[in-house]
Amino acid sequence: PSRSSTKELLNAEKGGYAVGAFNVYNLEGIEAVVAAAETEKSPAILQIHSSALKQGGVPLVACCIAAAEQSTVPISVHYDHGISKSDLLQALEVGFDSVMVDGSHLTLGENILYTKSISSLAHAKGLLVEAELGRLSGSEDGLTVEEYEARFTDVAQAEGFIDETSIDALAVCIGNVHGKYPPSGPNLRFDLLKDLRALTLKKGVSLVLHGASGLPHELIKECIDLGVRKFNVNTEVRNSYLESLRKPEKDLIQVMASAKEAMKAVVAEKLRLFGSSGKA
Ligand code: G3H
Ligand code: 13P
Ligand code: ZN
Ligand code: NA
Repeated sequence: PSRSSTKELLNAEKGGYAVGAFNVYNLEGIEAVVAAAETEKSPAILQIHSSALKQGGVPLVACCIAAAEQSTVPISVHYDHGISKSDLLQALEVGFDSVMVDGSHLTLGENILYTKSISSLAHAKGLLVEAELGRLSGSEDGLTVEEYEARFTDVAQAEGFIDETSIDALAVCIGNVHGKYPPSGPNLRFDLLKDLRALTLKKGVSLVLHGASGLPHELIKECIDLGVRKFNVNTEVRNSYLESLRKPEKDLIQVMASAKEAMKAVVAEKLRLFGSSGKA
């Protein structure tokens, strides 16, 4: 039995691979991620988006925790995109190993105050804290960020942000987007990632990249080489679920089993791509 903390998963990593964090919405999703991680002998993170938690509530978190505890590989349970203080205060009480404080919709000053206030409460409970600086474009779970609002992470601001908030992991915006990439394909600023890596290495902070769905192999590899240690994946897994539901299965058990297999295949492919297969 192998529930791990997100801290252990990110610290155990000594380069060469990244840990995948997969958004889950229900039991099939949870089982798919754990089954893929077990098959690949890989660590993995189960993450629940703030809007998924509103839907699934505490029982959804409890399912993640139970699945993590019973898995044969290290699994942690993470709260993704906490965009309000009241949501995060609830998240801190229900058993997550780590939380993401998302103040990317705020001004820099407000983001610092918001992140700092949650960070101290989370640290008092021994939880790892991830936060975002910059702003991702794309859409996710009903939250739409217009293209024109996209902002890259600024290195000098990031240094102050890390110092002020004492976060453990920094989600950066280097051209990564939630959901689909434009038809022209992803355009990641690797020069910026290099500078952010130098900073986070100096500060002992882990680098996180959201929006990993749609990133081709070469770009993922380059991100890992440049220090990314956690990738967030949602859209590709979710789309495989939806596609599976379009198959003409009649039996409910069969619908659920097919959906789980479809998601498991996508997750397993990502674990191999992230280089974490065989690392459990
Ligand atoms: O998470 C977001 C959506 O799945 C993005 O994809 O461009 O098809 O809406 P879309
Ligand atoms: P994708 O939906 O692009 O994989 O992004 C996932 C994510 O960043 C979850 O926080
Ligand atoms: Zn995200
Ligand atoms: Na994406």
